Amino acid sequence: MNVLQVSVWRGAGEGAYQSYEVPRHESQTVLDVVTHIQRHLDATLSYRFACRVGMCGSCAMTVNGIARWTCRTHVSKVAPDGRIEIAPLANLPLVKDLVADMRSFFDKWATARGSFVPTATRRDKFATVKPDSAERKAIDVAIECIGCGVCYSSCDVVAWRPDYLGPAALNRAYTLVQDGRDGARLERLAAVAGDAGCHACHTHMSCAERCPKKIAPTASIAGLKREVSRALLKGEL
Ligand code: SF4
Ligand code: SF4
Ligand code: FES
Repeated sequence: MNVLQVSVWRGAGEGAYQSYEVPRHESQTVLDVVTHIQRHLDATLSYRFACRVGMCGSCAMTVNGIARWTCRTHVSKVAPDGRIEIAPLANLPLVKDLVADMRSFFDKWATARGSFVPTATRRDKFATVKPDSAERKAIDVAIECIGCGVCYSSCDVVAWRPDYLGPAALNRAYTLVQDGRDGARLERLAAVAGDAGCHACHTHMSCAERCPKKIAPTASIAGLKREVSRALLKGEL
């Protein structure tokens, strides 16, 4: 079969799926398919990508019902029968076609205090983090997050309660809580300890199953629960 039958979400709010036929190629990715449609069949199709090599996190979409990074998702793996349905990421407002509005996703990183707060000045020596320390090892995989939103789009709790901070923001917060150079540990724990923070996670594991970088936000969230409990017992929060 040399042609793919592709169904793509078009429009914003009131949209519908539209069908396209796309030539099939060896090693073709889902992003290649979307790009073919935009370049050769309908120039008005909106979508987002940048690096095409799994680094920028901008190309995530829903492919046959599952959130994926499309630049590293091969058609042969997800659509062996040649049928693909492509939609924007779930759990986010829609801008148009395949472009989700990521503002709420990144606003929650800020709410979870997802930025490093330095304690050293430019006159201090470089702070060192020992690669074999327990704190560093605990976040070895978690620091590889590319902010793609796949976990957020796959999380049932985000769907149920839109104020939930979500797996990516909480994973980021945990990497900073484990960083001895950071100066906002207690503020960050306070930011993630509320009803919409780490305790809202129901450990469904969809985030860990779907993350393209093999990160387990569930483990980071469990780590945050432990750190929040310890801080409460010590009377720090
Ligand atoms: S483990 Fe928690 S954060 Fe991850 S998908 Fe499930 S409820 Fe969401
Ligand atoms: S944790 Fe994984 S799925 Fe979630 S934003 Fe980061 S890289 Fe993407
Ligand atoms: S285009 Fe950058 S991760 Fe896919």
